[in-house]
Amino acid sequence: MTQLLPDVRETGPIDPHALVDDRPDDGCFRVNRQTLIDEEIFAAERDHIFDTCWLYVGHESELPANGDYLAREVAGRPLIFWRDTTGQVQVYLNTCRHRGALLCRVPSGNAKGLSCFYHAWTYASTGELSALPDEAGYGENFDRDRFSLLRPPKIGSYRGFVFCCFDPDAVDLPTYLGEACDYLDLVADQSPEMEVVDGMHEYSMDANWKLFVENSLDGYHLLPLHRTYFDYLKEAEGSFLDPRKQTRAEDLGGGHAVITVEGPWARPVARWTPAMGEENRAWIEEQRQLLEQKFDPDRARRIAETDRNLLIFPNLVINDIMGIVVRTITPTSAGRTRIAQWSLAGRGEPADVRARRLDSYITFQGPGGLATPDDMEACESCQLGFRSAKEVPWSDISRGIAKERTGEPFVASDEIQQRAFWRHWRDLMSR
Ligand code: FES
Ligand SMILES: [Fe+2]
Repeated sequence: MTQLLPDVRETGPIDPHALVDDRPDDGCFRVNRQTLIDEEIFAAERDHIFDTCWLYVGHESELPANGDYLAREVAGRPLIFWRDTTGQVQVYLNTCRHRGALLCRVPSGNAKGLSCFYHAWTYASTGELSALPDEAGYGENFDRDRFSLLRPPKIGSYRGFVFCCFDPDAVDLPTYLGEACDYLDLVADQSPEMEVVDGMHEYSMDANWKLFVENSLDGYHLLPLHRTYFDYLKEAEGSFLDPRKQTRAEDLGGGHAVITVEGPWARPVARWTPAMGEENRAWIEEQRQLLEQKFDPDRARRIAETDRNLLIFPNLVINDIMGIVVRTITPTSAGRTRIAQWSLAGRGEPADVRARRLDSYITFQGPGGLATPDDMEACESCQLGFRSAKEVPWSDISRGIAKERTGEPFVASDEIQQRAFWRHWRDLMSR
């Protein structure tokens, strides 16, 4: 008779070391499925992960003009991402200092100040309480300065990517990003100025957020799960993904990880294929030359030729493939996840290149594209399978684990990248 492993959550309080069974010498790495379904573990993640890590808020280019603002939600907190009247990018907690109402109740706008709809306390974009009805009614000791908008304890920006952190004792942003900075640079250096293309996609799935993080770094699933897309590429363009081509997977430390692939599709910066149109060939080749003038040949080649899926722990993914997708993966419960994504592009690229970039992005990674629905379906299918978590408690993430001993390089279809995530998850959850 098959021996069933005990449900580790039945043995007592949450023990992250028991939930992540990490024994490289035995060729074993597996994660207990309770981590993906248990609401108590999700509540602990809020404290140990989302309240301690640096989290992505938005890109500076999303606020082109002074006064531009966007409502964002990060770590369960409503935020206002606002370029103030002096041009400074601000991140405020979107809650009125009077009694708490949301100050900003629309997704975006432009204003020098915002007035709370409840009792009309009014705040300047620089955060000060600038006006309130019948101030005299509070008496002479009332001090407006005590009621300015508050910010998350830490705010930082790296190459235009703005983050905040709810742990006042956290390390600074560049230290937190560590080796991932190099990969963010490869994205940010594609053009003298990068910008988020107007508009965004938002969608959700009935699955745990960590499944989509894993999926975003998963080179193993590409050919089996996205068969339709690769068949389409072959048919439409005569190009196909060659699994023998060099791919790489890396643990960047701090839970960050990356896979790099040289795909068969066009990269608007700067790998031309017929899909980009003959009329755009010269422009794309010129971009390549500009990169070669600015950077050493190896770096120019990395920027232009390699596709990468980068995870900034815990929930920011940058898919720099046929377009650049900046994606946040935000849990609302153990079994429900909200995804927001934006397209990043070089400012000033010709309209036809921009149109083809967006078309290519939407075709593969749009919420109704040829990849994302496959990925959602796979994650939701796993979540459905977890209803048997008591009898089938473990998910295997051991692919390529022998290389951890031999030092051989990892390829994108290995799972070092997911192990990097889970090891950091375990360490933070144990603190
Ligand atoms: S809650 Fe905002 S003014 Fe009263
Ligand atoms: Fe996928």
